[in-house]
Amino acid sequence: MPRTIIIAGNWKMNKTPSEATSLARDIAQNIGKQAVPSVVICPPFTALHAAATQIAGSAVRLGAQNMSDKASGAYTGEISAAMLRDSQVSAVILGHSERRSYYGETDAIVNKKTIAAIEAGLSPIVCVGETLSEREANKTFEVIHAQICGSLANIQPVQTENLVIAYEPVWAIGTGKTATPAMAQEVHAFIRKELAALFGEPAAQGVRILYGGSMKPDNADALLAELDIDGGLIGGAALAAKDFLALVESGRKAS
Ligand code: 13P
Repeated sequence: MPRTIIIAGNWKMNKTPSEATSLARDIAQNIGKQAVPSVVICPPFTALHAAATQIAGSAVRLGAQNMSDKASGAYTGEISAAMLRDSQVSAVILGHSERRSYYGETDAIVNKKTIAAIEAGLSPIVCVGETLSEREANKTFEVIHAQICGSLANIQPVQTENLVIAYEPVWAIGTGKTATPAMAQEVHAFIRKELAALFGEPAAQGVRILYGGSMKPDNADALLAELDIDGGLIGGAALAAKDFLALVESGRKAS
């Protein structure tokens, strides 16, 4: 079965609820009920409600940018999977490189969160990617191997149905430097091989692997043409409706 392309916008720490209302409205009005590609917007927690209101009735889905691995209780400042579910959220970005580097998230933490997300019925978008120094030291595959095995430990093949991986080379995030399609494809194919080793070939063939890192309307077509690139996780270009919708259009053409 072909993998439906996903175009996901990671708004990071941008957009107040009022700003999110207008961006989500523009996106939802344009997408309407168009189901391919699958479009996900990930506003900050404080704008989830505003965005949910605007996309209601459209095919646009709501994602969060992080969550706790704990179910409930005395964890000041944290947000649980159940809270996200009850806020119309169906996907959650986990282990983004900014969370790994600024907030100390390890593969073990990402793994707990991933399991909690799956158990709650959320689609986890698990991020992996090497830094520039790791790439220059020829450690890209070693790093990705450790991140994939660590972040996806103790998950069963049947639990991978809604699992999404995002390959985001750290050196390409917000820098305007994009991996070439061939460079990205090489790592995506490697990730799929790793998934096959963990979960078996049929499950690995079903997992969507998104590329993230300075994906823009002018480089998206070439990236999405690659066999194992099943969509994009977009930062900067997801903050303006015009750019994001152009990326959705690239996803439609590649479908
Ligand atoms: P940019 O598209 O701004 O490089 O960000 C990518 C990213 O980190 C998405 O999660």
